[in-house]
Amino acid sequence: MRLDIVTIFPEYLEPLNVSLVGKARARGQLDVRIHDLRQWAHDKHNTVDDTPYGGGPGMVMKPEPWGEALDAVLASGEGEPVVVVPTPSGEPFTQQLAVELSAKPWLVFTPARYEGIDRRVIEEYGDRLDVREVSIGDYVLAGGEAPVLVMVEAVARLLPGVLGNAASHQDDSFAPGAMADLLEGPVYTKPPEWRGRTIPEVLVSGHHGKIARWRRDEAFRRTDRNRPDLIERADPAAFDKHDRAILAALGWSPREDGRFGRTSEAVEE
Ligand code: ADE
Repeated sequence: MRLDIVTIFPEYLEPLNVSLVGKARARGQLDVRIHDLRQWAHDKHNTVDDTPYGGGPGMVMKPEPWGEALDAVLASGEGEPVVVVPTPSGEPFTQQLAVELSAKPWLVFTPARYEGIDRRVIEEYGDRLDVREVSIGDYVLAGGEAPVLVMVEAVARLLPGVLGNAASHQDDSFAPGAMADLLEGPVYTKPPEWRGRTIPEVLVSGHHGKIARWRRDEAFRRTDRNRPDLIERADPAAFDKHDRAILAALGWSPREDGRFGRTSEAVEE
């Protein structure tokens, strides 16, 4: 997969040389190219921003440097990339979007500083390319570089051969599949006792069925506590008899449409 990132802070993307993404680059699985937007700003101060039309606080990124930068990046590759524009006003970045992007051969990221990029840039390239405005969450950062680090890591770990154990992202929280609507439960490793704290007996029972059931129950408990909205919107067809029992114990019951709602306090902790 090829990734191009156009930014005024190339050094902000140094972490892409480290760990999983760094190793994928070293192995040639990821071709990451970082470009300094100021290369395409031609005045004495390499200006990339200006005051907003209509007034208001902050500065807006000028269209000309972005246009030249994107033209150069597009001309340097084969075919058409998906252009990912990080912005708090974008569609939510989800595991599903990460999976979708991981299937593309070429992504171009345009992290902005200030109040964002002149709208005409998004329109110009949106007329020709798949341009996705994407938010990593309901909070405002100082720029799109940190969101790019987040999105690149989420996408890169899905590429074939990038994670050591291919099965290890199948049961991620939010991954499609049997655990789709649940958060992952707790995990333990050696030693069996630490500061007087032991591990759940079932995990050393060798009984795979019981372990799977325990993990699923724990996933329900954690989802109930941290993300009840996931249970509310889950397709109840995915819930078996045991799931329904643990949901009932946690204070959930089926509504008229079959989906679950919290109806009472939990009977267990
Ligand atoms: N730029 C600033 N805040 C952002 C956010 N939450 N997501 C994506 N890009 C951003």
